[in-house]
Amino acid sequence: MSKKTYYITTPIYYPSDKLHIGHSYTTVAADAMARFKRLTGYDVFFMTGTDEHGQKIQLKAEEKGKTPKEFVDEIVADIKQLWGILDVKYDHFIRTTDDYHVKAVQNIFQKLYDQGDIYKGEYEGWYCTPCESFFTEHQLKDGNCPDCGRPVQRIREEAYFFKLSKYQDKMIKYIEDHPDFIQPVSRQKEMINNFLKPGLEDLCVSRTSFDWGIPVPFDKEHVIYVWIDALSNYITALGYSLEDDSMMKKYWPADVHLVGKEIVRFHTIIWPIMLMALGLPLPKQVFGHGWLILEGGKMSKSKGNVVDPKVLVNLYGVDAVRYFLLREIPFGADGVFSNKSLIDRINFDLANDLGNLLSRTVTMIEKYCEAKIPKPSAKEEIDQDLTSMAEKLPENVEKLMNDLEFSGALQEIWKFVRRANKYIDETMPWKLAKDETKKDRLDTVLYNLAEVLRIISVHISPFMPNTPEKIRKQLGITDESLSTWESVKTFGKLPSGLTTAKKEIIFPRIEEDKSSDKAKENEQTAPKKQEQTKQEQDTNANLVTIDDFAKLELRVAEIVEAEKVEGADKLLKLQVEIGDTRRQIVAGIAKHYKPEQLLGKKIIVVSNLKPAKLRGVESQGMLLAASIGKELTLVTVDDDIASGARVK
Ligand code: MSP
Repeated sequence: MSKKTYYITTPIYYPSDKLHIGHSYTTVAADAMARFKRLTGYDVFFMTGTDEHGQKIQLKAEEKGKTPKEFVDEIVADIKQLWGILDVKYDHFIRTTDDYHVKAVQNIFQKLYDQGDIYKGEYEGWYCTPCESFFTEHQLKDGNCPDCGRPVQRIREEAYFFKLSKYQDKMIKYIEDHPDFIQPVSRQKEMINNFLKPGLEDLCVSRTSFDWGIPVPFDKEHVIYVWIDALSNYITALGYSLEDDSMMKKYWPADVHLVGKEIVRFHTIIWPIMLMALGLPLPKQVFGHGWLILEGGKMSKSKGNVVDPKVLVNLYGVDAVRYFLLREIPFGADGVFSNKSLIDRINFDLANDLGNLLSRTVTMIEKYCEAKIPKPSAKEEIDQDLTSMAEKLPENVEKLMNDLEFSGALQEIWKFVRRANKYIDETMPWKLAKDETKKDRLDTVLYNLAEVLRIISVHISPFMPNTPEKIRKQLGITDESLSTWESVKTFGKLPSGLTTAKKEIIFPRIEEDKSSDKAKENEQTAPKKQEQTKQEQDTNANLVTIDDFAKLELRVAEIVEAEKVEGADKLLKLQVEIGDTRRQIVAGIAKHYKPEQLLGKKIIVVSNLKPAKLRGVESQGMLLAASIGKELTLVTVDDDIASGARVK
């Protein structure tokens, strides 16, 4: 049986400037979706490319003393390199200067002209060069371009027009009858109420004032003006109107066009009307995502507030950057980019939650099972809870992905990661390891954890292309059949006996100070927040935000050894267990506690404090104690909470 097909596109990018992290957002999202569909058994065609014609590019090339083609060739090479760095695996990259595209666009123009949908007239109106858009008087905003706010020029010239108005009612009906066509729903109403209902004017589709474009086939004075050229890419790449249109038969209509919200209008009015006029089916969906913004507004070169994705990948790695983009912002909404939120995601979600789960599991398998995946025996209730969550995960994630809810899908996966960490605290493998009669139980718990990690590795693969392999290597998995979507639908496919291999930490914690110079470099052009008033500063001086508090990692620790520090009558050297790890903490409590009084006590420690030396002895954390005057008491917790538990 042949596979179901899935055709997904990004917009084609203007190769006029270097792309920033906002541009990468659409493409990384499309790539994650394409990978997800491949993983779940589809025959995927994922396309991106470049939109290379127009006056703006011609002017930029002239400024640089290059031909337009020389100018775009260089930038296109840079864009392709960026997609390589971001691990974007497209199936086809279209350039609107490609011969086949030029030919097919001319065929489309000719056909629309021959059937009377394109006619010659005279254009008089306002033109925005950077946006390459014409506007009528009443569309202007305070006399400027309604899209970018820049000044517009009055233009009058002979031009060809496309009869949008003829299809207006058909288009409204189509949108109303196909509620999935424009997503998110809010954008549907915007298109109908703001653009279609007030009435469509015919669209100017040729220009004579510049020549960097595809010539109108029957009137060489004119070049085809941007949208007919650009939008057609989605079908010319499939061979529409060309000799071999087998791809067209296979993949059209597209399953989804992902576009930023400012170009939803072109994709949900002009494009479908072009397709109606050509007698072709419409794409199943156009999804208008939000913008990545910096303080001060949408990232854009002209405002000077751009963030370079290559710098971020260099600093934090491609998987972390991709995770952040897709996790931080619900896909339809705008979201603010900041270096701090990126570092927090890396430290909390990736280093703490996922990284720790892997390193704790592999360390325990190494220590208690001679580095071999153990054999599980009968499940207990708590195991059922974990395994049933695992078995529901593929279905939940698939549903969210089909709705393009990348962030929701990642949240669902991370609920499972956190559940597994809690399972370690609940089952306390280090305690089981102390009792020989509990060996079977210990094996079952560690097997379950390894299997959970295998399942997670498959689920994160569309978002993070490199981490899954690192996880699988540490678990000793080489068999590819254990990385399939089918294989994660049933818990327990991981074979026992594989040899684990503890390797590098998959996501090292990022210390904000270390990255701050680079981060500053990256954000330096963002507009500064207004200075706080003196009064505000005084009022806020003693307050911390919840984010400040969240930086502290407080954990329950069990004191297993205690001794005096020679030559320091106030200090005791303690060995504590935090979960399955051991730490040494030096504390100034010798005047209040004798070493033997402390053994077995469960205390609270700050576990993410930078190590320091006290009287030459290293201390890897700090314990909490309450004191008043000369009195001091350690802060302790009840016995029935396991060491390693987080204090929040
Ligand atoms: N060439 C047109 C598209 C033609 S499609 C037939 C174009 N190109 S673009 O280079 O300006 O933008 C490409 C994509 O990047 C668009 O989807 C746009 O919304 C997206 N983004 C550009 N800046 C962005 C952010 N700051 N945030 C999120 N996406 C942004 O438009």
